[in-house]
Amino acid sequence: MAASELDQTWHKRHINKKVVVILVAITMFTIGLILGSVIYIRRKLEKPGKTNSIDRMHHTIKHEKKDTDLPILDLSTIDNATSNFSASNILGEGGFGPVYKGVLANGHEIAVKRLSKNSGQGLDEFRNEVVLIANLQHRNLVKILGCCTQDDERILIYEFMPNRSLDLYIFDQLRKKLLDWNKRFQIISGIARGLVYLHHDSRLRIIHRDIKTSNILLDNDMNPKISDFGLARMLVGDHTKANTKRVVGTHGYMPPEYAVYGSFSVKSDVFSFGVIVLEIVSGKKNTQFLDPFNQLNLIGHAWRLWSEGRPLELIDESLGDSIVESEVMKIVHVGLLCVQERPEDRPNMSNVVLMLNGEGPLPRPKQPAFYPHHEDYSSSGKCEYSSNEMSITLEAR
Ligand SMILES: *[C@@H]1O[C@H](CO)[C@@H](O)[C@H](O)[C@H]1NC(C)=O
Ligand SMILES: *[C@@H]1O[C@H](CO)[C@@H](O)[C@H](O)[C@H]1NC(C)=O
Ligand SMILES: *[C@@H]1O[C@H](CO)[C@@H](O)[C@H](O)[C@H]1NC(C)=O
Ligand SMILES: *[C@@H]1O[C@H](CO)[C@@H](O)[C@H](O)[C@H]1NC(C)=O
Repeated sequence: MAASELDQTWHKRHINKKVVVILVAITMFTIGLILGSVIYIRRKLEKPGKTNSIDRMHHTIKHEKKDTDLPILDLSTIDNATSNFSASNILGEGGFGPVYKGVLANGHEIAVKRLSKNSGQGLDEFRNEVVLIANLQHRNLVKILGCCTQDDERILIYEFMPNRSLDLYIFDQLRKKLLDWNKRFQIISGIARGLVYLHHDSRLRIIHRDIKTSNILLDNDMNPKISDFGLARMLVGDHTKANTKRVVGTHGYMPPEYAVYGSFSVKSDVFSFGVIVLEIVSGKKNTQFLDPFNQLNLIGHAWRLWSEGRPLELIDESLGDSIVESEVMKIVHVGLLCVQERPEDRPNMSNVVLMLNGEGPLPRPKQPAFYPHHEDYSSSGKCEYSSNEMSITLEAR
């Protein structure tokens, strides 16, 4: 072997070694770079304050999602809680379906609203709406705890109110004595605040469309909570009025423009609120009251007494000495402003709250809409329920 040959072999080996070393170095450097970047990016993501706008957006979306997530309950859990929707557990019948009392396995009491399947609303629409209303929170609104959409069911789960609804007190000869003037005043103010929230304060403009005494529930301390607002209509953006072919509501509480033409706005709820006010003050039901001489319903009767300067005669006798005359006068006055015939004459709910708390003079109410009797509608519309007590559905003309 020549010396030069030996030298070449050595040279080759030397080069090979060099290549390996360089390759290893590059690999190590790359791995280091990747690891470093990963750690760097992670640290950055953990500090929201320093993240860029896209990260922040993701963060917000995640956060909001957490905010609105409503527990989804299994149908089997609800079946079990309500004994398979047993009729003996029915608490009441709302405009969109029956409400059942339920007891969960952990002993929690719940109210289960099962919507009729022919409500015409799609499942996605229902879920979206439920997520939106789950975000509504106010001390004068009943809280929604969850929902269930299994097997085409549309079920809402609400907190259970042990003292049931306002109608069971104010229209009952014995139980009405449990609500003195002070309590009734507080109940009226609470309902008004709940409505201000629905109409003006939450991110959505919500029209309840079925405000009535049986939809006002009472908590342990007899504070009012509006229920059944979940399926009310939401008006988006600047819309203040809408029309529907499907009039859902209760005789005696629906304003004329809604009952006859299906036109509704926040002022439809104001009308129903006015009816409730007169009912709470008088302890009489608008639809059942009939002034024997003048053939007037409660609204007409209240208007007549007020026009003749004797509004105090409207007062529920069981209130006895608990009444504060100036407050009674003010509340009857506000009630009459709310049931005026033209929606644009009625105050909005923010105004109502101001009037209830204020001392100043109030505008003079115009003649109210005298509520036409039941028979007037039976020919023009399809009633889903026949009783006056229940919410009904009419096809508007
Ligand atoms: C409810 O129905 C299921 C079957 O449909 C039955 O197994 C179960 O015992 C029922 N539960 C009650 C409380 O009636
Ligand atoms: C059904 O209800 C009973 C009590 O009402 C409870 O003991 C049981 O665990 C419940 N079962 C399921 C599956 O929720
Ligand atoms: C309301 O419910 C609570 C708790 O169940 C009860 O202690 C209270 O007596 C009830 N109030 C009335 C007026 O029934
Ligand atoms: C309520 O009505 C008053 C007086 O008409 C008006 O100034 C106010 O802006 C209204 N409030 C809302 C929230 O619409």
